[in-house]
Amino acid sequence: MFTENNFIFKGSEIKIPEKGICNWKSPSNIALVKYWGKSEPQIPKNTSISFTLNNCHTITTLKYSKKEVASNDFSLKVIFEGLIKEDFKPKIVKFFERIEKYVAFITLFDFVIKTENSFPHSSGIASSASGLSALALCLMSIEKELKPEITQEYLLKKASFLARLGSGSAARSIDGPLVVWGNHSKINNSSDLYGTSFPYKIHPIFENYQDTILLVDKGKKQVSSTIGHNLMHNHSFAQQRFDQANENISKLSEVLQNGDLKAFINLVESEALALHAMMMTSNPYFILMKPNTLKIIEKIWKFRREYNSNICFTLDAGANIHILFPEKEKEKVNLFIGDQLIQYCQDNQYIQDQTGTGANQL
Ligand code: PMV
Repeated sequence: MFTENNFIFKGSEIKIPEKGICNWKSPSNIALVKYWGKSEPQIPKNTSISFTLNNCHTITTLKYSKKEVASNDFSLKVIFEGLIKEDFKPKIVKFFERIEKYVAFITLFDFVIKTENSFPHSSGIASSASGLSALALCLMSIEKELKPEITQEYLLKKASFLARLGSGSAARSIDGPLVVWGNHSKINNSSDLYGTSFPYKIHPIFENYQDTILLVDKGKKQVSSTIGHNLMHNHSFAQQRFDQANENISKLSEVLQNGDLKAFINLVESEALALHAMMMTSNPYFILMKPNTLKIIEKIWKFRREYNSNICFTLDAGANIHILFPEKEKEKVNLFIGDQLIQYCQDNQYIQDQTGTGANQL
């Protein structure tokens, strides 16, 4: 097990390269048991587990060159999908401030961060998990350049550790296809500090599990994650929710190994609704589902009953729906989506995805 101290970069006698470039592709993820509530510094109040996605990803190229004049500030330029983005900088500067203790070399360089997502920017799909994990991986490539002796295992673990400090769920966007974040007695090697691959044999029914994302509302998130997590402080049901999530991790761990799809559906849908219930019962309170979200949920339940299907839904902190189903039902479910659900999507837009194996260096 790694502790925080293992991640502090030490290297006074290191030769600093004049310049370099690194390039990573990092996936988005969808939580099955949700993370909602944290304490400082980004320590989750309960364990969460997610499917790593295959098609929804961020590609980031990081160019670095040694500063001509040494300074303690961060020097960076951000280019998003070909355009210079001044408004992306504050978030990255904040991320750099949080991680500087662990990657002290970042003040030595001028950075140009070029980044692009495979999914539309205004789609309501959060890009922080894939974006911050891609950037963390690029920084770890620089660390590897400075210290070639670090292992690949360390590089990936520390990338997850750093990504977590930017956005909790980003800790789960390095490995795949199933990643656990948050220490749990029933999951070997699980940690609050970084994500780890689900350590047990996964039942074949979950291989290439499908996730079709129905874009019900492509607008900006109504509740930022920061506000959302803070709502769990002093929330009347907070402790019950954290206990419930931790129990659901134990149950889901069994289900992922034994392939009990009925139990899977029950757990995953219940988790999605519990997340939204927390927002509805906080103060201030929010309803993040839209009328079309509910219409889709009803259609999914009807389809499941009538065709004895194993589709189910999950939700992020927004109105979009993720429909999860086994690969062998792909044809039947695609027809159902095209026939009956597409009309509830904004601009008829949806994204077909499936579980993936994690980030790649390009
Ligand atoms: O990573 P954050 O701080 O944006 O929180 C994400 C929380 C949810 O997406 C709602 C749930 C989860 O576990 O991914």
